[in-house]
Amino acid sequence: MKVATAVGARPQFIKLAPVSRALRQRHQEVIIHTGQHYDDRMSATFFAEMAIPTPDYHLGIGSGPHGAQTGQMLAAIEEVLLKERPDVVVVFGDTNSTLAAALAAAKLHIPVAHVEAGLRSFNREMPEEINRVLTDHVSAQLYCPTETAVRHLQREGVIRGVEQVGDVMFDVLLEAQPRIQQRAQALLPEFGLTPRGYILATIHRPANTDDPEAMRRIGQAFSDFGLPVLFPVHPRTRKLLERYGIAWSERIRFVEPLGHLDLLALASQAHQVATDSGGVQKEAFLLATPCTTLREETEWPETLEGDWNTLTGSRDAAICKALGRPRPAQLRHNPFGKGDAASRIAQSLHA
Ligand code: UD1
Repeated sequence: MKVATAVGARPQFIKLAPVSRALRQRHQEVIIHTGQHYDDRMSATFFAEMAIPTPDYHLGIGSGPHGAQTGQMLAAIEEVLLKERPDVVVVFGDTNSTLAAALAAAKLHIPVAHVEAGLRSFNREMPEEINRVLTDHVSAQLYCPTETAVRHLQREGVIRGVEQVGDVMFDVLLEAQPRIQQRAQALLPEFGLTPRGYILATIHRPANTDDPEAMRRIGQAFSDFGLPVLFPVHPRTRKLLERYGIAWSERIRFVEPLGHLDLLALASQAHQVATDSGGVQKEAFLLATPCTTLREETEWPETLEGDWNTLTGSRDAAICKALGRPRPAQLRHNPFGKGDAASRIAQSLHA
């Protein structure tokens, strides 16, 4: 078959890596990059680090308001699909690039396969939640990472084409595992950090970044807790923080966005991860590093089991308390599959 894969944002490049490799063993792949993420550190770095083939189409859409961004992608992807006529279009996760590609394909009657189907935060104010629900409902093949995801789809009446294959991010983590420890040993001294002696923070959700008071409270909690905080800053967060002019504690160290292995290495040795990212919550869980999630809800409820992850929103006292909670003693049950999600998807995919 000719399979078109559509990506645009950082987490999608990571998910594409194992899927692309598996697809190419039995199909022809055409990669479409919308250009949603365009900075080298948000895009090119990941293609190089994860040896993802160069996209066949780079649409160069870039940033913009949601409607304009999604609309431009929709038009540009439609053109590519009309030219390439793939048998199936594979989309990943929940970004505007996901929705645009899914809609473009569905309207052309090309079957859509959704990797990471069925996730729900039940918060419709998150653009990602809208993207997930709509993408699932136009998809013909729905590849769920967990049992919870399958149940969410059932409740919405989506049953046909649903398959629980496990999480492709777990595939990626398993593959990186042998290199994580060694990378951490090199990185920690570089950043002047000690094992379990720091917090790794990532913040990019509009609910936090667009609210100066929320960012101030998060900064206050980090400062009150007292451990050094390493904070790789997403470009949108950086732009906003520059505008707010918050007086950050010296304990907080802002650095450029990290490559994926470096992020895993630093997460693996942290006292805790503090994040509002979905993917990073899960990576912390899989690396057995406790996580404090700076949101009110999560689309990965499995990570909350046994106190490995805690939801605090942006309340400073709650964050500080969560950062200080004891490390869970009990072993975690891994609900994210066997690390063979990508090959299962490649096998199951059909026109
Ligand atoms: C997007 C996804 C989000 C995902 C995140 C991962 C949507 C609705 N959101 O959010 O689900 O978790 O990617 O990082 O699709 N910018 C740059 N350089 C870049 C990319 C972005 O400077 O390479 C800045 C721009 O100011 C832009 C802002 O970041 O306006 C937002 O970028 P956008 O890609 O639209 O959304 P993200 O916040 O990255």
